[in-house]
Amino acid sequence: MNAEHGHPARQTLDAELAALAQAAGRLPDSGLAVESKVLAALRISNVLQQVIRALDEDPYPPLLAEVRRQTRFLLALDPAALADEPAAGAGGGDPVARTRRLYEDAWTVYDEATYRHSVDLILARLRANGYDEAFFAGKDCFDGGCGTARFAVAMALLGARRAVGADMGGRSLEFARAMMERLGVRNVELVETDVTDLSAFADGSFDFVVSNGVLHHALETERGIREHFRLVRRGGLFWLYLYGAGSLYWHVYDALKQTLAAVDSDRARRILLDLDLRQGAIYTYLDNVLAPVRKYYYADDVVALLRQEGDLEYGLLRGTAAYDDAVLQRQSRWGREILGEQGEVRLWIKKA
Ligand SMILES: C[S@@+](CC[C@H](N)C(=O)[O-])C[C@H]1O[C@@H](n2cnc3c(N)ncnc32)[C@H](O)[C@@H]1O
Repeated sequence: MNAEHGHPARQTLDAELAALAQAAGRLPDSGLAVESKVLAALRISNVLQQVIRALDEDPYPPLLAEVRRQTRFLLALDPAALADEPAAGAGGGDPVARTRRLYEDAWTVYDEATYRHSVDLILARLRANGYDEAFFAGKDCFDGGCGTARFAVAMALLGARRAVGADMGGRSLEFARAMMERLGVRNVELVETDVTDLSAFADGSFDFVVSNGVLHHALETERGIREHFRLVRRGGLFWLYLYGAGSLYWHVYDALKQTLAAVDSDRARRILLDLDLRQGAIYTYLDNVLAPVRKYYYADDVVALLRQEGDLEYGLLRGTAAYDDAVLQRQSRWGREILGEQGEVRLWIKKA
C-alpha cells in the first residue's frame, strides 16, 4: 500500500533521487564502485536519521542538499577505472531467504549490555503507556519475529511466567540461546518458524503478544497480523508496529534501495565494518536500505482488519521520543509528511 503524495517538494526530491539512481547505475557492481554506492547511501541515510529525530523541522532542504552532493560524488567516478573485480551479484534470489540472512547477519553481534539495555527500553515503553514494571509479572508473553530475542529475554527478566520468541532466523535464535545461558535466563522458549503461520499455538494462549517491526517484511502480512491476534487471550494485549503508508522517510529509503539494487547485504556490511561504524548504525543501514521486502500500512486499515477477527479496544502506542511515539508523530509539525499521514502503525489492541 503506497499513498500518493502531494507536497510540492516531493517532486523535486524524486527528480534528484532519479538522478542519483542514474549516477549509480552507470557504475559497475564491483570493487570500489560498490563501496562508493554504499557510502553515498550511508550519507543520505544519516540525514534521514536526523530527519526523523526532528519532526518539527522541514526535512526537504537537508535531504535535497545531501542527495545532490552524493549524485555529484558518484558522477565524478570513472566507471571504467572502477571495474576491478567480478560482480557480487546478490541482488536477486528468494526474498524470504534474503530477509532471513540479512537479519541473521545484522543481529548476531549484540552483547550482554545490549540485552540489559533492552530491559530499560521496554520499561520506558511500559511507563509511556501507563503501566509499571510489574506489568509482565506472571504473564505468558509471545514475541513474533523476535530476532535475537532481546524483548523476549527482557520480558522474562521482568517477571514473565513464560516468554516465547519466534523467528525464521535459526542463527539469530542460536545466538539468543547462547546469550540466555550467559544471562541465566531459563523461562524463554525459542521457536524457529514463519510467524505468518502460528498454527503450532492454540487460540488465546498468551496474555501479551508483541510484533515489533516484523510483519511489513513478510510476504503474507495480513495473515500474520490475524495470527498474532488469534494468540491473544480475552482481556490480553497486542502491541503491533508496522511501517506507515505515505512516509517521506521510507520513500527515500526505497529510492536508495534502487541505487543499491545489485549490492549484496553481506558485502555492504563488511564495507560498513571497515568504516568503523558503531553496530547500531550498521544495523539501521542494513535494515532500512537493504531489507528485501517492505510494505506500508494505515493504522485505520489494520484496525478494520482486526475487527473482523473479534471485538477489541485500541489506541496509539506512546514511545520515548517523537520518532517512536504514534501520538507525537501525528501532532508534530512535519510528522505526517515524514512518517505518513496516519504516522507509523504503532498500536495497542486489547481483545475484548
Ligand atoms: C527488524 S527485525 C525486528 C526484530 C525484533 N522484533 C525487534 O524489534 O528487536 C525483523 C525480524 O523479523 C524476522 N522475520 C521477518 N519475516 C518473518 C517471518 N515471515 N517469519 C518469521 N520471522 C520473520 C526477521 O528474521 C527478523 O529477525
